[in-house]
Amino acid sequence: MLRRLHHDQPSSFAFTPANQKWAEAQITKYPEGRQASAIIPLLWRAQEQEGWLTRPAIEHVSAMLDMAYIRGLEVASFYFMFQLQPVGSVANIQICGTLSCMICGAEDLVAVCKEKIAEKPHTLSADGKFSWEEVECLGACANAPMAQIGKDYYEDLTTERLSEIIDELASGKVPTPGPQNGRYAAEPASGLTSLTDFESGKTRFNASVALASNLGDTVKRIDGTEVPLLAPWQGGAVKAKPAAKKAAPAKKKAPAAKATPAKTTAKKAPAKKAAPEKAPVKKAAPAAKAAPAKKAAPKASAKSTKATGDKKPRTMSAPRKSGADDLQLITGVGPKLEGVLNDLGFWHFDQISKWTKAEISWVDSRLKFKGRIERDKWVKQATKLAKK
Ligand code: FES
Repeated sequence: MLRRLHHDQPSSFAFTPANQKWAEAQITKYPEGRQASAIIPLLWRAQEQEGWLTRPAIEHVSAMLDMAYIRGLEVASFYFMFQLQPVGSVANIQICGTLSCMICGAEDLVAVCKEKIAEKPHTLSADGKFSWEEVECLGACANAPMAQIGKDYYEDLTTERLSEIIDELASGKVPTPGPQNGRYAAEPASGLTSLTDFESGKTRFNASVALASNLGDTVKRIDGTEVPLLAPWQGGAVKAKPAAKKAAPAKKKAPAAKATPAKTTAKKAPAKKAAPEKAPVKKAAPAAKAAPAKKAAPKASAKSTKATGDKKPRTMSAPRKSGADDLQLITGVGPKLEGVLNDLGFWHFDQISKWTKAEISWVDSRLKFKGRIERDKWVKQATKLAKK
């Protein structure tokens, strides 16, 4: 395919102030004399801001990096991820047309795009909201056929579902990415045949979908607001962008029995639910659950605590009157783990946010699978959730 600059170009380009600041910070990541290496992130940010890469944008970025314009153009025209022509104001649908997806129905998905968007790829729909193209393997072959829309993958697609997704996007919604047929991730469609215990640690969404839902910027243009300026190793704090549609912290309506609802919904991992699922929600403190912590909280013997250097964190025998936090909002905590945490005496994000290393070790030794607290950064997640 020929990749040429679009015939119709704007007269100028400028990063938004926040994006300019971000871009300047990116350049500092590279050693002196190697600033040109920042070309891809900067071009990418320019595209995220405008939707596509204009000639003035390539010139602007090249100048920032002290590169000849032709060098910037070489990069922009080489990589297919850079759009050299205007794309839909809502989304550019990228249908994978490589082997697995082709065998599983990619051509039918392309037919949907032709019918709903435009007969030819790289062409705007009549209302300017959408464009589409066929791309090479996006690495989600086990969930074929699939499409990338904005920053996220929509997998296990059917023609009907893709058609619905386009309609939902057109109406301002952002469908939850990931498998669209009820599959959790890339496990066999007929169900697990091994590692079946995995079910116990299952969260509502798989990690990628949970992250996408939390960030909530699937098809959102980036103006730089709340984007981390520096990488963590440079002392910058990585802040998750709040999902656009997140609900304010709310209380759950007092369920009489707590254990069942979370379990059933989490197992089905409904791909259709949107970002608000991750909003911090308080669970009402059901009277029936007032004292279970004592029942199951395994006591650390003084001996074992001394020997291992573990320290028992402060626990609570019951949630506060305002109700327990929904600990399943912590990525890596499923219904079972939440039950274990409650039994140990942990009901609230702020409790978890205060765990020290020795306390993490104490809790970790009481979980079935060790190491997940640090691997999934529970303390950091809980700190953020507690603030909300
Ligand atoms: S063939 Fe489509 S994702 Fe690999």
